[in-house]
Amino acid sequence: MASKSTVILGTGHYAPARILTNDELAKTVETSDEWIRTRSGIRERRIAAPDESTSDMAVAAAKAALADAGLTAADIDLLIVATVTPDLPLPAAACIIQHKLGIPTHAACFDLNAACSGFIYSLDTASAMIGSGRYRHALVIGADKLSAIVDWKERTTCVLFGDGAGAVVLAASDDPNRGIIGARLGAYGDSVDLLKIPKGGSDNPATPDSIAAGDHFMKMKGKEVFKLAVRAMDETARDILEQHHLRADQISLVIPHQANLRIIEAVSAYLELPMDRFVVNVDRFGNTSAASVPIALDEARKAGRIKSGDLLLLVAFGAGLTYGSALIRW
Ligand code: UT7
Repeated sequence: MASKSTVILGTGHYAPARILTNDELAKTVETSDEWIRTRSGIRERRIAAPDESTSDMAVAAAKAALADAGLTAADIDLLIVATVTPDLPLPAAACIIQHKLGIPTHAACFDLNAACSGFIYSLDTASAMIGSGRYRHALVIGADKLSAIVDWKERTTCVLFGDGAGAVVLAASDDPNRGIIGARLGAYGDSVDLLKIPKGGSDNPATPDSIAAGDHFMKMKGKEVFKLAVRAMDETARDILEQHHLRADQISLVIPHQANLRIIEAVSAYLELPMDRFVVNVDRFGNTSAASVPIALDEARKAGRIKSGDLLLLVAFGAGLTYGSALIRW
């Protein structure tokens, strides 16, 4: 029989030990701590060690989430990994992570690429799959090693991104008033060019020239992304609230994608919801793409900011441009 809802049983995150400060970056590109802080709110970011992969970070976050849930890898029958930086172009990072964690071979394992909205896309996908009654325990991970696809000579992008991983364990519940009560996903495919890696895909395989030109690194039109991000986050938040007959002031905590403090402040102003209802850790992590929302969720929980019965709004946007929101009754 199909279940009534999907609940989060445990959360976890992992951040690499290496902290890269704005002052350190200012020694390698023409920038300053002042510029980065005032334009983005970022003070520092974590950078994975050269031998530390996306799957390594994902495994660490997953172990923390499994321990928090009181489950083991043997209990998982669905693994979804939101990432744009899998260890290899082929196969999926999920299969590497499955093997490292010891998740059984009967588990469904796949990656989901929706960039910075990837965790919310994956949460909704896992929730629907659990809701089908065919899966019992899902592990959903958001993990990205953006330091591997950032052009460290390009000041307009390299100051914004970092590495990390966050994870949740999901299960079915008979209580329809708890858990993931809704999600809205969407994409502006007409804006693909605003944030992309131009070469290295099947349409344009990497060549010595494309590599010399740095076309295997992320390119972004920051100002345009900013405007569309604010619009998409505001609209998807309003949509999901309306769909569930809720007002913004009924939200206990918003867990937004951590790209830029000014984007979060703009969403706060549009929703007329004070900033103390928003989780902000972009100052310490920068933009970690798919890892951003689950890291913020785990930090908020561990800081005691989430209590039973609280209404949470998760909201994100990313390359694509994708966007998504989810409502969770804790
Ligand atoms: O998950 C999705 C990921 N992407 C995003 O979230 C990005 C969204 N966009 C943003 O966060 C902002 O647009 C940025 C932080 C990227 C840029 O902020 P901005 O206020 O839109 O600045 P800008 O692009 O208009 O640049 C202002 C000036 C320019 O100089 P001029 O033309 O005014 O002389 C830039 O060349 O700042 C210059 N600039 C820098 N200066 C020092 C650009 N990057 C830097 C830098 N340090 N790192």
